[in-house]
Amino acid sequence: MKISIIGSGYVGLVTGACLAKLGNKVVLIDLDEEKVKLINSGVDTINEKGLSELLRSTDIEASSDYQSITDSEVIFLCVGTHSEKGYSVNLQYLTNAAEQVSQILKDKGAYCVVGVKSTVPPGTTEELIIPILQSSGKKAGEDYGVCMLPEFLREGNAIYDFMHPDRVVIGEYDARAGDMCYSLFQGFDVPILRTDLRTAEMIKLASNAFLANKVSFINEIGNICKELGIDTHEVAQGIGLDQRIGSKFLQAGIGFGGSCLPKDLKMLIDKAREIGYEPKILEETWNLNEIQALKPVALLKKYVSINNATIGVLGLAFKPETDDIRSSRAINIIETLLKGGARVKAYDPMAMENFRKLFPSVEYVSGEEVLNSDVTLIITEWEEFKSLDYTGKVIIDGRGISKAKEARIYERV
Ligand code: UDX
Repeated sequence: MKISIIGSGYVGLVTGACLAKLGNKVVLIDLDEEKVKLINSGVDTINEKGLSELLRSTDIEASSDYQSITDSEVIFLCVGTHSEKGYSVNLQYLTNAAEQVSQILKDKGAYCVVGVKSTVPPGTTEELIIPILQSSGKKAGEDYGVCMLPEFLREGNAIYDFMHPDRVVIGEYDARAGDMCYSLFQGFDVPILRTDLRTAEMIKLASNAFLANKVSFINEIGNICKELGIDTHEVAQGIGLDQRIGSKFLQAGIGFGGSCLPKDLKMLIDKAREIGYEPKILEETWNLNEIQALKPVALLKKYVSINNATIGVLGLAFKPETDDIRSSRAINIIETLLKGGARVKAYDPMAMENFRKLFPSVEYVSGEEVLNSDVTLIITEWEEFKSLDYTGKVIIDGRGISKAKEARIYERV
């Protein structure tokens, strides 16, 4: 099929490359000319494992010209919905993209499907996107179809997650559109759930809110275990063996970051409040996560006064195997340390360049050099941190690197 992807960020680029690998002809639309050039030369602009090989070996091209989507059979909207500041939802990019597609629909003869992949509050596709598309003078469900297909891609594993999903969710306005999207996933031996638009939007938000809740749950259990001298990791193992609970997302520590879990959780909280419902569990999931972020700072104060101390930070990315620092726990922590007058030395295998843009006064050094500090914090559980020599050091571990227990003083968040 001829497929267009509007927005070539984390979701758009991976979705486009994988659909191209499945034999579709894919055009990526992005307003950033620089990004378009890089993608057309096979450069992976999001640092995702295996992506540059895919870009070079598949029938995919990038363009900034919406005219190149006029013969598309499916048009996916994959633009970002997060605001630059804070966590409120920003639907401006999605609105702009829908308006551009609406212009194309005006002169389009053949039926096509407009599929929303961006993460949006429940009701957005029906209440915002369809009216914009209908301003073309063409009718949804007749001249074109509308679907909502949430993505469940983890950064660092996005290609694997696209090609091996636990399930595919297709929210459809009209069955013909649902059938066309369904045909894209032929050969995928996984459940394909066909539902309505707002249910699909909610499945995405509820999935991420549950994952966030599971992290805050084990962190709450961990906070209680610490007071009782119980190893949270062993408790997590014990409960995770229950098939109904599952062992994933039970890693206690300094909490969840990234561009999705915080944003999606907040999006759902705000939507609930908008309709007059107070989402207590979701709010406490958020609140506990905020508290967890600064626990390493509270712990290190037992050993040094921040002012004039040299503090080491191992890990800056929001999780291992990515250079992404969006909502990384390291941001709050290093901001607090610098404000308190500390000298900060930091190392991260991939994220130092991104972090330097935010915190130029931090000293970016090797992992070994970071350990030559008064106290060292472990913020991201990179594999290579499991082979550092911690002997004689003071370590505050936010992520459960058990080798660090050899330190002179070892504290676990
Ligand atoms: C997440 C969802 O997993 C994915 O399905 C969705 O499509 C996008 O958001 P991602 O943001 O890439 O993916 O990161 P993820 O691997 O889920 O980790 C999110 C955060 O939770 C990280 O900061 C991680 O450190 C933290 N986390 C995860 C924990 O603190 N404990 C855990 O047990 C698991």
